[in-house]
Amino acid sequence: MTSAKQGQQQFCFFSLRASLLFLAILTLASFTYLSLKYSTPPPPQVSNLSVAPGSVKAAAEEDDGEEAASDTHHSPRVFKLNYEEMEKNFKVYIYPDGDPKTFYQTPRKLTGKYASEGYFFQNIRESRFRTQNPDLAHLFFIPISCHKMRGKGTSYENMTIIVQNYVEGLISKYPYWNRTLGADHFFVTCHDVGVRATEGLEFLVKNSIRAVCSPSYDVGFIPHKDVALPQVLQPFALPAGGNDIENRTTLGFWAGHRNSKIRVILARVWENDTELDISNNRISRATGHLVYQKRFYRSKFCICPGGSQVNSARIADSIHYGCIPVILSDYYDLPFNDILDWNKFAVVLKEKDVYQLKQILKNISYEVFVGLHNNLVKVQKHFQWNSPPIRYDAFHMVMYDLWLRHHTIKY
Ligand SMILES: *[C@@H]1O[C@H](CO)[C@@H](O)[C@H](O)[C@H]1NC(C)=O
Ligand SMILES: *[C@@H]1O[C@H](CO)[C@@H](O)[C@H](O)[C@H]1NC(C)=O
Ligand SMILES: *[C@@H]1O[C@H](CO)[C@@H](O)[C@H](O)[C@H]1NC(C)=O
Ligand SMILES: *[C@@H]1O[C@H](CO)[C@@H](O)[C@H](O)[C@H]1NC(C)=O
Ligand SMILES: *[C@@H]1O[C@H](CO)[C@@H](O)[C@H](O)[C@H]1NC(C)=O
Ligand SMILES: *[C@@H]1O[C@H](CO)[C@@H](O)[C@H](O)[C@H]1NC(C)=O
Repeated sequence: MTSAKQGQQQFCFFSLRASLLFLAILTLASFTYLSLKYSTPPPPQVSNLSVAPGSVKAAAEEDDGEEAASDTHHSPRVFKLNYEEMEKNFKVYIYPDGDPKTFYQTPRKLTGKYASEGYFFQNIRESRFRTQNPDLAHLFFIPISCHKMRGKGTSYENMTIIVQNYVEGLISKYPYWNRTLGADHFFVTCHDVGVRATEGLEFLVKNSIRAVCSPSYDVGFIPHKDVALPQVLQPFALPAGGNDIENRTTLGFWAGHRNSKIRVILARVWENDTELDISNNRISRATGHLVYQKRFYRSKFCICPGGSQVNSARIADSIHYGCIPVILSDYYDLPFNDILDWNKFAVVLKEKDVYQLKQILKNISYEVFVGLHNNLVKVQKHFQWNSPPIRYDAFHMVMYDLWLRHHTIKY
């Protein structure tokens, strides 16, 4: 071997080693950055809102292509890069077992309070994320729909048995579950009965990713493992609101059933208030066509107390109609909490704040309100389902959350 050739080889070797080292450092650095980002504790409850008037202007100047990197995100740059990587690479294997005519594979329907579940079942099959090759998959989807079981009137006890039999069937038939005891598997359920129906399998609860509409800590939601599915009542009765501040003359609005402690208190404390429009009853259809929805267009803030579940379709309604949601719940992991900074487009309160509700809302300056409203318009697309799915919509945000979770498990 000539020395020139040797030198060249050595050079190649060194530059290869150098680039490997560089890559390793880069990976380490980005993971440190990510873990620092995601391990920061959630911001304390808002008593003073921190939308600087300046940031409103900066946000308005962003061009559409850069929308993803808006200031409504915790780390816009990381989101943008990681989102693009997800779109390119993320692959999910859907187990093919189960008759689509019974409880499996396809959605029950794409309408109503639990539409998010139906859309996910529909969207994943229409999307680029699906792979037929399990060896290429980052995650495995267990396509059993508790909403379909409910539609067929299955009892809760029977649901539990059906889920158990189905998953145990997959465990014995395929090698994938046993490799991680289900840690790279996920299921999706919007109705809270689905959360209970899956409790028969220890590792489905402990290891698998649960994408659920009722992400309450007191029913076992694990924020860094599970995914909060936004609850969106579809279709929306009226078009999206926004950029219509001059029409928003009511300070705060809520009308609904008193089916939780916090709602009872809300109604009792504020029902006769002249500035807060609080009705302790649902607005009846007899009052007029879509009167309930139209109130969202005329209000600055829409109060979203938890009902029988901590979640409520009212949050997505408020976002859609351009009315700033006021979250009034304890133990609620808000959808996309780890991606979006809710304090930039919502008012996040604890239940005990209900007694100061009016003063808290009145304390929010006009500039801060306008900032919240403009940011709200920017996040509307994240809380909207589509078929086929479109970039940055609810489906893609859920996929992004799954993509983040998959970084922690690799087979
Ligand atoms: C909130 O802001 C007001 C007025 O700007 C200030 O007086 C008060 O100390 C602040 N409260 C907190 C908890 O930061
Ligand atoms: C539950 O399962 C049993 C046994 O398969 C069946 O006889 C019964 O009708 C089911 N009940 C409901 C409500 O699904
Ligand atoms: C996975 O493990 C379970 C429990 O040990 C076993 O019954 C099952 O057969 C295994 N699955 C496969 C595909 O080997
Ligand atoms: C305000 O309300 C009026 C009457 O309902 C409507 O015609 C108008 O378009 C609204 N303005 C905006 C900016 O949405
Ligand atoms: C609101 O007004 C109604 C009718 O006047 C009255 O019965 C009720 O006690 C009032 N509620 C509160 C909290 O003051
Ligand atoms: C509202 O603002 C005033 C004056 O800054 C402050 O004294 C009061 O504590 C605030 N109230 C609430 C409920 O935040």
